[in-house]
Amino acid sequence: MSNVLKDAYNRPIRDLRVSLTDRCNFRCFYCLPHGEPPIAPKDQMLSYEEIAYVCEIFVALGIEKIRLTGGEPMMRRDIETIIGKLSQLKLSDKLQLVDEINNQKPQGLQDLALTTNGYFLPDRAQSLKDAGLDRITISLDSLKRDVFKRMTGVDVLDRVLTGIDAARKADLKPIKINAVIVRGHNEDEVADFAAFAREHDVKMRFIEFMPLDSGHDWSRADVVSGREIRERINARFPLEPIDVPRGSETSSRYRFVDGAPGEIGIIAPVTEPFCGACSRIRLTADGQIRTCLFSTVEHSLRDVLRSGASREEIVDYIKAVVLKKEPRHFINDPGFVAPSRTMSFIGG
Ligand code: GTP
Ligand code: 5AD
Ligand code: SF4
Repeated sequence: MSNVLKDAYNRPIRDLRVSLTDRCNFRCFYCLPHGEPPIAPKDQMLSYEEIAYVCEIFVALGIEKIRLTGGEPMMRRDIETIIGKLSQLKLSDKLQLVDEINNQKPQGLQDLALTTNGYFLPDRAQSLKDAGLDRITISLDSLKRDVFKRMTGVDVLDRVLTGIDAARKADLKPIKINAVIVRGHNEDEVADFAAFAREHDVKMRFIEFMPLDSGHDWSRADVVSGREIRERINARFPLEPIDVPRGSETSSRYRFVDGAPGEIGIIAPVTEPFCGACSRIRLTADGQIRTCLFSTVEHSLRDVLRSGASREEIVDYIKAVVLKKEPRHFINDPGFVAPSRTMSFIGG
């Protein structure tokens, strides 16, 4: 047994998602639809030194995957610096390990990934790789220029496609592509995306629209279910499930029956929730721990850190916060209240 954080439901917490900024150069309507979002003042943002320090503690406590998110993480200056610092956590001899649980060394960071809208990748993919990033996930909601523009607010489809190519050339593999499927926008493109996965040998993931948009315009009628997505793909390219244990993964995975390259993942948090095996916690750019995407309360690790707490006190704080992790989301319950912070703050 290695070190491991566990919540009150005995779920091991292995996966930390760190938002580097709440700024974004896109305006995806399912995330940031109305006007300029409030941006946290700079002095409330965690510095790279603070992020690296708390991530080292998280890794000492058994976190194995770190995903950098935003807003758009590449809007933050020089993210190669933080990637470089975090990639050091893979070398377990670099970890300052005070074993908190059972006097054994954790194995260190196993996986360092980034979620991006792809805009900055044409020029920067290689420098991310050189800094120590393992892999990348790129959002791509349409393959049609006009629909892409309508969904994201920016007319840059070609640039994002060039970014995907650059990520491949830089070997940031496996490349995953995320598309949020929303009724009346892009559900007719599902099979075209599957064709894209086959042609470009990428893991194409389809995500159900969740109530995390800042306009609070989400409606159940806009959700295209995982089942409908599967049926739309199957009609053109028959699929079969990939038979590996799902663990805490968000997606159910499929391959093409005809053996074509590429993979399909379906992320269906609304109609097929996967909270029971959730291993994720989140750290916002302003230093708040969120124990669920849908948390209505946050826990200020920043305040603890800046109060001069010792490493042991920080460890105790993190363990206590993890015990408050919600059992599940309540999207499907009557009286569901969407979190006040939207995806651009939480980071997906
Ligand atoms: P890897 O498996 O590490 O590649 O990452 P992932 O499956 O977590 O995927 P990614 O980070 O690309 O997340 C994809 C999308 O899944 C996010 O943008 C969210 O829309 C959704 N998602 C991720 N984590 C959660 C979660 O804990 N709960 C819910 N309800 N949705 C999530
Ligand atoms: N529902 C589902 N996924 C969302 N994302 C952002 N907003 C939503 C939403 N309302 C996801 C997108 C993007 C990632 C950063 O967050 O997939 O790729
Ligand atoms: Fe920006 Fe990502 Fe939100 Fe789109 S989903 S507005 S790219 S943070």
